[in-house]
Amino acid sequence: MSLDPAALRKGITRAERKQWWLSFSGVAVTLILTVGILSFSVTVYVLKSTLFEEMNFHAATRSLVGMVLLFSVYVIYQQWQIHRFRMHLLAQEELFRLIGENAVDMIAVVTVDGRRLYNSPSYQRVLGYSREELEQGSSYEQIHPDDIPAVKAAAKEAAETGVGRCLEYRVRHKNGEWRVLESTASAVRDSGGNVEKLVIVNRDVTERRALEQQLVLSQRLEAVGKLSGGVAHDFNNLLGVIIGYTEALQDSIPPGDALREPVDEISKAGQRAATLTQQLLAFSRKQVLEPKILDLNAIILDMEKMLRRLIGEDITLKFEVHRDIGKVKADRGQLEQVVMNLAVNARDAMARGGELRIETTDGELTDKDVRRYRYVVPGRYIILSVSDTGVGMDAETQSHIFEPFFTTKEKGKGTGLGLATVYGIIKQSGGYIWVDSEPGKGTTFRVFLPFAAGAVEETSTEKPHAQRCDSVRTILVVEDEHSLRKLTRTMLDKVGYRVLEAADASEAIKIAADTSLHIDLLLTDVIMPGMSGGDLATKLSPERPEMRILFMSGYTDGAIEAKGNLKPGLVVLRKPFARETLLRAVEDALSKAAPTIANRDRESDPKSTTSQLVAN
Ligand SMILES: Nc1ncnc2c1ncn2[C@@H]1O[C@H](COP(=O)(O)OP(=O)(O)OP(=O)(O)O)[C@@H](O)[C@H]1O
Ligand SMILES: [Mg+2]
Repeated sequence: MSLDPAALRKGITRAERKQWWLSFSGVAVTLILTVGILSFSVTVYVLKSTLFEEMNFHAATRSLVGMVLLFSVYVIYQQWQIHRFRMHLLAQEELFRLIGENAVDMIAVVTVDGRRLYNSPSYQRVLGYSREELEQGSSYEQIHPDDIPAVKAAAKEAAETGVGRCLEYRVRHKNGEWRVLESTASAVRDSGGNVEKLVIVNRDVTERRALEQQLVLSQRLEAVGKLSGGVAHDFNNLLGVIIGYTEALQDSIPPGDALREPVDEISKAGQRAATLTQQLLAFSRKQVLEPKILDLNAIILDMEKMLRRLIGEDITLKFEVHRDIGKVKADRGQLEQVVMNLAVNARDAMARGGELRIETTDGELTDKDVRRYRYVVPGRYIILSVSDTGVGMDAETQSHIFEPFFTTKEKGKGTGLGLATVYGIIKQSGGYIWVDSEPGKGTTFRVFLPFAAGAVEETSTEKPHAQRCDSVRTILVVEDEHSLRKLTRTMLDKVGYRVLEAADASEAIKIAADTSLHIDLLLTDVIMPGMSGGDLATKLSPERPEMRILFMSGYTDGAIEAKGNLKPGLVVLRKPFARETLLRAVEDALSKAAPTIANRDRESDPKSTTSQLVAN
């Protein structure tokens, strides 16, 4: 069955022509029959002749009947032809209806001056308007005013050239929302070759565009994160040296000495710089986290006093914490940092006062959210919202806020690291952060953290400084950064530890093999050229089961980065560290009973690899 419209049109014309011919021949046959009947009547009634006897009456009757029969056959044949074309037409119409009703795309036929002739039913599905509602108005009615000139120009071009180009524009959904349509027009010409109508196919690309935007944003953040993470890592080591030696100088210069003040200033600047690099490391998700199962509500309520002080009196602080929302697994200090940064931003956005609302609840991310935000993992989440009634942000600002050093605050007021830090922490904890804001209408940040099963774990509280151990303990320090190694050695030497130094894992293995000393502690960097600290620990532990292990790192390796967590029980000393922190960590490690890392690991998973040792 050919459904080519041109062929169909030709066939119908032919059938019509035949139908006309049929009607004419019908009239002619009727006339001949009438003449025949008349001639009989005239002969019989008027002339009363004996013509019947002379004529071959039977032959005349047969030819008349034959003619009538032929005519009837022709009529039936013709009727059948017409029926066939009608069936073709019906099939064509049915196909057209099916396409119109089932196409996801919206199909419209409009006149050159914009009058709607046809709108497919998908218009109602996608934009909410019924066919009648659409046909009442002009086709430009629902288009965003800013996009009308471009749409008109494209329609004009299509009408003039007969070739439509692809165009994107915004159309208002019946519920008021703006949808982005991608549209292609093709021209329909009349018999004179002039463009008579335009057939427009519109596709709703709102979700696709949103996803693309998210992808661009996350790629940009990823790239900036890599760069800043790398820089921060190197800075961290240098700062460790600066801070360490400044502390040593502070110890040897008595208060009141002329040199004491400059040294104190160097120390303060070093600490400030260390805070900055920590923020950058947080953004690039290279922080060493100590995730524990936490009650978010308890943390928020614990912070209440501090938050009230922070935001001042002209801002009303409201808490809405829902009970029994479940627990999250995160680093407590980092989570507090998130709440604080969001609250400080909210305060800054409400210079003339307003309301800061902090809410916790639980919720679900479903497949629908996955379609909207491609990277979302569906499941149960704990939601923290921080809303303000401040100045709000436009879309352009919103697309940059998580970038490090992006700030709209005047010089000296903001570093632009607040939200970058928040972003890094949330990502590293397996969560998401979304912002809703409009200029003049306030801002809401919503943080989704994955629900964690289990009981709340005690958060580590700073222990009072323990007494130094008198007996001489031996520590094997493995660190590739020369000055940091030297500094660590000096710090440990000073309080009476015996220190063995190695620049990398292979040197450490050699020292351990050669020495007859009992090594009490392996203090090793995690990331080093060649063998990693984790591998080194696995290698040495079986030979020295009594040896404790303490990792130090300012940076985490790929495995930690991937999971963002550390195996519970593994101690990692964050770099840069002050002397007190180092000594406390060393003492803690030494005072622990010595289930070595290797034994501990073997207990939990006999096949575990070194990277799992350090990470997870
Ligand atoms: N609640 C908010 N309301 C309006 N704008 C906001 C809000 N939160 C963030 N912003 C915008 O995002 C920008 C970046 O915020 P971010 O916290 O990263 O840096 P900052 O606050 O400028 O500096 P800092 O490093 O001191 O936090 C701000 O400069 C501001 O323009
Ligand atoms: Mg900020």
